[in-house]
Amino acid sequence: MPAIRIRFIASALAAAFILATPALADAPKVTVYKSPTCGCCSKWIEHLEENGFAVAATDVHDVRPIKQINGVPPAMASCHTALVGGYFVEGHVPAEDIRRLLSERPEIAGLAVPKMPEGSPGMEGPNPVPYAVWAIRSDGSREVYARHAP
Ligand code: CU
Ligand code: CU
Repeated sequence: MPAIRIRFIASALAAAFILATPALADAPKVTVYKSPTCGCCSKWIEHLEENGFAVAATDVHDVRPIKQINGVPPAMASCHTALVGGYFVEGHVPAEDIRRLLSERPEIAGLAVPKMPEGSPGMEGPNPVPYAVWAIRSDGSREVYARHAP
């Protein structure tokens, strides 16, 4: 291969790398723990990916120990548990609330949408209901972080 061709390829690769890097650095990385048989968990992951998050999913047979270790109160439990930016994100929390969490960085342990309300991301259905996203502190106290209505 002529040297000039090699140099061209090298600079094309460098340009591609430079173009790709800011996008990768910008995508918040989310780790999701879920049951291998959970369909709504996968749909929530798709919702995050469509909103620019980089998601790594891990299948576990029992998600409860993950919730316990990360301080999710049992009353706030849903199906999957995610970790992002030092916070837990429990259940079907909308991407917009996670974005706000990561930009405001409040002194809380995480966000939760308890149970699985119909109409939350990944739980689309014919009978959507209003639901709240809770901000949970490390002492277990909580307050409403956001409300969503159909
Ligand atoms: Cu679910
Ligand atoms: Cu789930």
